[in-house]
Amino acid sequence: DRGARLYFPDQFDGLNELRSAAEGCEGCHLHEPATQTVFGKGPANARLALIGEQPGDIEDQAGQPFIGPAGKVLDECLAEAGIDRDDIYITNTVKHFKFKLISGGKRRLHQKPNAREISACRPWLDAEMSVVKPDVVVCLGATAAQSVIGREFRITRQRGEMVTSDICTQTLSTWHPSAILRQPGGDCKRAMQAELIDDLRSAISALS
Ligand code: URA
Ligand code: SF4
Repeated sequence: DRGARLYFPDQFDGLNELRSAAEGCEGCHLHEPATQTVFGKGPANARLALIGEQPGDIEDQAGQPFIGPAGKVLDECLAEAGIDRDDIYITNTVKHFKFKLISGGKRRLHQKPNAREISACRPWLDAEMSVVKPDVVVCLGATAAQSVIGREFRITRQRGEMVTSDICTQTLSTWHPSAILRQPGGDCKRAMQAELIDDLRSAISALS
């Protein structure tokens, strides 16, 4: 894996040029089986940025982040926290869907990106953040938190803590919406969702 750097535009003014360049990225092997690059979405002047893990099955087909089941949970949480999705920038740590085929090739099962893939893709995230320059970054889940904050970060212990990272002086991490979806239901699920909403509210407070 040679990394995304080779596929960078010589110069870029904004997100559109980055997005176009990322469409052709072959910086790691993940581009091969995936449908397309799923770049971040949102206004370049967004003050809040959310960073997920990688596109899922639906996102891979549609080319947009967080529009599948996890996106629905995220939308509910954003609404509860009083955040308009159109005002914020939403992206992922890794821009291609990593999966393995199951059920005789009929289904695509999500697989966690590894450290090599995360670091191969990191230049896109850095470039997005250099354009958007958000005042607050929220990492959704351990993959984003460990890439942005550090490998030692533990979401179970450090969720909701505001820390300084390489990409933003105000970076906090919370549950990934998919982790909430995976809960069997009941109190635990509701508690996690309440914590995610709480963390989004903290992020908004940190803006003012
Ligand atoms: N999970 C993510 O981390 N990102 C998406 O875009 C969708 C699901
Ligand atoms: Fe490039 Fe990232 Fe896709 Fe790998 S996952 S091919 S580095 S865009």
